[in-house]
Amino acid sequence: MEIKNLMVTGGLGFIGSNFIRYLLEIPDFTGRIINIDKLTYAGNIENLMDIGERYPDRYIFQRADICDFDLMRDIFLRYHIDAVCHFAAESHVDRSIKRPESFIHTNVIGTFNLLEIARTNAENFVLFHHISTDEVYGSLGPEGYFTEASPYQPNSPYSASKAASDHLVRAYHETYGLPTTISNCSNNYGPYQFPEKLIPLMIINAVEGKPLPVYGDGKNVRDWLYVRDHCEAIWTIIQSGKRGETYNIGGNSEMENIVIVEMICDILDHILPPPEGRPRRGLITFVKDRPGHDRRYAIDFTRLRQELNWSPRESLASGLRKTISWYIANRQWIDRVRSGAYQAWIAEQYDERASV
Ligand code: NAD
Ligand code: DAU
Repeated sequence: MEIKNLMVTGGLGFIGSNFIRYLLEIPDFTGRIINIDKLTYAGNIENLMDIGERYPDRYIFQRADICDFDLMRDIFLRYHIDAVCHFAAESHVDRSIKRPESFIHTNVIGTFNLLEIARTNAENFVLFHHISTDEVYGSLGPEGYFTEASPYQPNSPYSASKAASDHLVRAYHETYGLPTTISNCSNNYGPYQFPEKLIPLMIINAVEGKPLPVYGDGKNVRDWLYVRDHCEAIWTIIQSGKRGETYNIGGNSEMENIVIVEMICDILDHILPPPEGRPRRGLITFVKDRPGHDRRYAIDFTRLRQELNWSPRESLASGLRKTISWYIANRQWIDRVRSGAYQAWIAEQYDERASV
């Protein structure tokens, strides 16, 4: 069934804004996008400023908190929502360790609200697609990969809240027959990522000659997925994924953190020769480890490759070069995020004090 009115939640965050941009640019989606975002510190209205102007008939933004059941139900009915692609979440592990409350509210209660509204209020509902993470599977040793059959063993408040939301999505399919799909993906990187996450933080600090804080011994391993590849995978699952199924999405790019940081330094030294010729690797500083820091994530995405014919296009080297070039070319975006100016719009519209 064709999707006419797709609700995208969290569409002003990093992956959600890339997904909306991607979807409006490909020919095989002709419907309308209703972007719902609370605009927390991680949401940035400026990520899609041009999109509202370029697609006035196909893109609607409505500021809303997915935890507000009544408002979300009104939006469902007002826009005749027939599918949901659910990105909205508190997403940063370090923040979840310091202050877990908002993670439980948004990631668990918010997801429950959307499922319940979809179940009881949407006619001819096509699909609820839930975006999740490989962190729900816990931590790997030096060998092996997470498959869709791996047991859930979340280790941080963030991953525990995502695990809870995955279980709710699964239960709504099994119990009520709600058409759902779930994707669990590895670490994303690319344009518009908030500079609290490893790659943008390191790029920006390295450009500015500031210390590059690497947690612990730097040998924790992540698998890196370029955000546009992720968007393509999500759209593939929405179109062709089996209802009730989970799909792992990986980038084929496992790497130790320290090696990633060294790669960033080397690429930057090449593009922007460092002041006084001092290689940026000299900025690397080992700092206290993250509590409960998962050692290794690695994704087996055989199901997605074999059943839906998807594989990532970018290598880590090509994706990193694109990402670094984007951050260099978008200095103003970085400055406005760091100064808090990106939240001025909220203050003007809603008479709120900006907060980061
Ligand atoms: P992000 O933090 O950049 O963006 C999250 C967005 O959700 C923001 O725009 C924020 O304003 C919005 N939001 C937060 N709480 C909300 C609420 N209560 N109501 C409405 N909107 C709210 O996150 P991201 O990195 O783009 O991640 C998007 C999704 O992908 C999340 O569900 C995350 O768990 C998942 N994920 C991310 C990664 C990654 O590497 N970034 C990897 C795997 C899975
Ligand atoms: O695996 C998917 C997950 O990837 C997503 O579900 C999360 O939303 C997303 O934030 C990301 O979680 P991580 O904790 O892996 O990402 P982060 O960028 O915070 O850290 C990546 C690795 O780098 C991790 O091992 C911790 C380390 N790190 C991070 C920061 C911010 C550092 O060594 N120094 C740092 O300053």
